[in-house]
Amino acid sequence: MTKKILITGSRGQLGRSLQDAVPDGYDLISVDIDEMDIANQTQLLRLMEEKRPDGIINTAAYTNVEKAESEREKAYEINCRGVENLAIAAKQRDVPIVHVSTDYVFDGKNYKPYQPESKTNPINVYGQSKLAGEQKLLEIYSEKAYIVRTSWLYSQYGNNFVKTMLRLMNERDVLKVIDDQIGAPTSATTLAQTIWTILNKRPAYGIYHWTDAGVASWYDFAVAIYEIGVTLGLVKNKSVAIFPISETEYPSQATRPQFSVLDKRKTLTAVEQTAVHWKNVLERELKIIKNNLFF
Ligand SMILES: NC(=O)c1ccc[n+]([C@@H]2O[C@H](COP(=O)([O-])OP(=O)(O)OC[C@H]3O[C@@H](n4cnc5c(N)ncnc54)[C@H](OP(=O)(O)O)[C@@H]3O)[C@@H](O)[C@H]2O)c1
Repeated sequence: MTKKILITGSRGQLGRSLQDAVPDGYDLISVDIDEMDIANQTQLLRLMEEKRPDGIINTAAYTNVEKAESEREKAYEINCRGVENLAIAAKQRDVPIVHVSTDYVFDGKNYKPYQPESKTNPINVYGQSKLAGEQKLLEIYSEKAYIVRTSWLYSQYGNNFVKTMLRLMNERDVLKVIDDQIGAPTSATTLAQTIWTILNKRPAYGIYHWTDAGVASWYDFAVAIYEIGVTLGLVKNKSVAIFPISETEYPSQATRPQFSVLDKRKTLTAVEQTAVHWKNVLERELKIIKNNLFF
């Protein structure tokens, strides 16, 4: 029987990637803030009553890490109260919910990959608001909740590091990129596929980690974007000099974790799949960007 899944934040990069990857057997109710503001409980409960979804995937979020430092209330309203509303709505209808969270719930001081149950300690407002959302969801509805944490997300859609780098590489001859923050670049496409697999296979409810394989600094990521970008003709300027710099040399409102690699072995076992190295996934995604030229 076809299942109806409500996707929130449907115009965001993950929301759109989930719609691109929808497997057979699912109908989507795709809504973004104009149709349904997750922070508006009345609107949310009304929509749930009207549409009667069989499950929810929440990709709606306040995602501006820098601005969150000065917009704490707004970040919490969406990333915490919005998730609380969704937890209540899912519980009322007794349907599963997949909620997407972030590596920024960790402080990055361990220098080894974080397990789903590792101690959280967010060091910026965005991370704190996302952790508060995770906690609300588990407090209200752990019975049927999946939390999928991911990192360094990019896609052909929206604003992200890959598209910013491609633009800058076509505008400038010199770029300086941070090399002392380490994480795992992750394509919204592979994350979307993993979320659908989780919904299909239904492993035990709880927290899961998903990123593409391997690790990188922002500098490594930028160099790979440049090299593949030149090969594919996405970067016309063939003499961009990319210099590694420390985070201390880059003005920023938000502190970011230095090592926020997520250990995804639990997910790989649960969904019986392997992860592809981020550089190979990047090449695939850059080819998609080239074909669509959305930036
Ligand atoms: N991007 C990353 O690097 C990254 C890394 C780790 C985890 N994540 C998590 O991954 C998930 C998806 O991220 P993404 O990059 O796809 O985000 P995104 O592109 O910013 O998309 C989020 C979507 O949610 C919408 N939205 C904002 N407030 C809303 C509200 N109150 N009600 C309903 N919709 C609302 C946004 O609309 P507007 O654009 O109009 O605000 C946007 O369309 C988020 O949970 C994020 O925290 C992202």
